[in-house]
Amino acid sequence: MLLTGSSGSVGRHLVGSLDRSRWRLRLFDRVPFAGATAPDDEIVEGALEDESALARAHDGVGAVVHLAGLATPGYAWADYQAVNVDGTRRVLEAARAANCRRVVLASSHHVLGRTPLTASTRLGETDPVRPDTYYGASKAAAETLGRLYHDRHGLEVVCLRIGSFRERPSEERHLWSWLSPGDLTRVVEAALAAPAVGFVVVWAVSANRAAITATAGAEAIGYRPLDDASAYASDGLVASELGRLYVGGDFCAEGVDGPATTR
Ligand SMILES: NC(=O)c1ccc[n+]([C@@H]2O[C@H](COP(=O)([O-])OP(=O)(O)OC[C@H]3O[C@@H](n4cnc5c(N)ncnc54)[C@H](O)[C@@H]3O)[C@@H](O)[C@H]2O)c1
Repeated sequence: MLLTGSSGSVGRHLVGSLDRSRWRLRLFDRVPFAGATAPDDEIVEGALEDESALARAHDGVGAVVHLAGLATPGYAWADYQAVNVDGTRRVLEAARAANCRRVVLASSHHVLGRTPLTASTRLGETDPVRPDTYYGASKAAAETLGRLYHDRHGLEVVCLRIGSFRERPSEERHLWSWLSPGDLTRVVEAALAAPAVGFVVVWAVSANRAAITATAGAEAIGYRPLDDASAYASDGLVASELGRLYVGGDFCAEGVDGPATTR
């Protein structure tokens, strides 16, 4: 199994927790991996912009978990386009060329970040996208490319709309959006192991009592989260006005986005 973005925070956690009796890992990142690896893990260093490195990374793998990308707001649109959009297309193309069966894409709740929060807000898997930033729009584009590669080439694609991956909740909005470390491992293992998924969008959040996200996608891949952010509700979670108004919280602030073309 190929794990792109293996040196980042999500990737490092997965390298340390994925069950090696089920998956042999090949790590891919432009930044050297700093932590401990398992004896059979392979490492390919390279960038999403380098098609020959991607071809080497995909050679012989059955599945890809694609995490690599720009994961925060504030970059220029041109950078999201180059890394998150073009980079995802290159990964999908390399997976198709290598006869890979499945690609798991790291998407984000920010594809619906501009959705107003009310007492009745529910976030579905098929609602029209409503991104809060260039970042959210780039993730929506990545999901769309996944759909294209499924429909045109039969590649199986699981889009994981990751909520807020943290050791523990630190903001009030994490009461609905938190994805615990244990549940991150569970959702990725489910996305890899589920039989014949076709194309599916999954809300990757924990079993939060305050959840506002649909569960049909999670059920389709057999993801059963175990953790609940409400256990931390009395921990002095930080509240923000935008976090109460919008799904994307502070990503909806004026001036969060970088410029269109240059940083
Ligand atoms: N952490 C979260 O709460 C969260 C929430 C929603 C979505 N996601 C998504 O999950 C994925 C992983 O997030 P993260 O928090 O680990 O981010 P991160 O920034 O910690 O890690 C991203 C990794 O991608 C690598 N990378 C970036 N550009 C690259 C390129 N051009 N070529 C090769 N490697 C490149 C970086 O070196 C880094 O190791 C991202 O796609 C992010 O958008 C994360």
